[in-house]
Amino acid sequence: MTTAPILEVRGLSARYGEVVALRDAELTMREGEFVAVLGPNGAGKSTLMRSIIGLANATGTVRFRGAALKRDPAAVAAAGIALVPEGRGIFGPMSVAENLQLGAYMIGGRGPDYERRLARVLHLFPRLKERLDQVAGSMSGGEQQMLAVGRALMADPKLILLDEPSLGLAPKVTAEILESLALLNREGLSVLLVEQKAPLALKLAGRAYVVSNGRISAEIDPKEITSHGDLARYYFA
Ligand SMILES: Nc1ncnc2c1ncn2[C@@H]1O[C@H](COP(=O)(O)OP(=O)(O)O)[C@@H](O)[C@H]1O
Ligand SMILES: [Mg+2]
Repeated sequence: MTTAPILEVRGLSARYGEVVALRDAELTMREGEFVAVLGPNGAGKSTLMRSIIGLANATGTVRFRGAALKRDPAAVAAAGIALVPEGRGIFGPMSVAENLQLGAYMIGGRGPDYERRLARVLHLFPRLKERLDQVAGSMSGGEQQMLAVGRALMADPKLILLDEPSLGLAPKVTAEILESLALLNREGLSVLLVEQKAPLALKLAGRAYVVSNGRISAEIDPKEITSHGDLARYYFA
């Protein structure tokens, strides 16, 4: 059974001054999907993420759960979309607990089920539980990425966008973080994952888009990608 669309991106374009970084992007996700966005450095992947949530100078339309999405970060968070930005974007001088609280403030405050959400995040990432009072910036890169994901989850999203969560992390900790995404997805969270490490992303995703030169250049079925050569064909098509 196919589920209802959760995200419908139509004709999304974005520019930085005179530079067009994204052209006419079209992308559809259904409820509960795990979709990967692949592509080389500078292709426009981050611009696509930022355009969806209203952080870029973009034109075009984005529909979320059937309704037009106002591309304003607060409205996007309230609607149920959370972004884990490239570079994590955590607040280094603040504690782990404070960073997690900030995630909840994205939806206007702690809300009635704050403790339940916090318990869920700490269950998912026990390393954060041991470090609640630690200054976030003093943690390892992997732990900081777990915090970035945890903070996004504190806003209780229906859809989570992740922009290269594996950047700068060792393979083992990358695997740990991506496994946690797979688990969340099995629990019903829709996941849109930007990754340069294509083999990893393709292991988890049900579908993938390739971005190159500011365009969505291909849509691929991960099951059909069995070698580097298969993927290279899409990258350089
Ligand atoms: N803030 C910015 N100002 C000017 N150009 C930018 C800015 N951010 C990105 N770009 C340009 O837009 C293009 C797409 O960048 P980006 O979306 O960050 O790619 P990716 O995430 O795929 O590496 C690149 O050519 C990049 O140089
Ligand atoms: Mg990027």
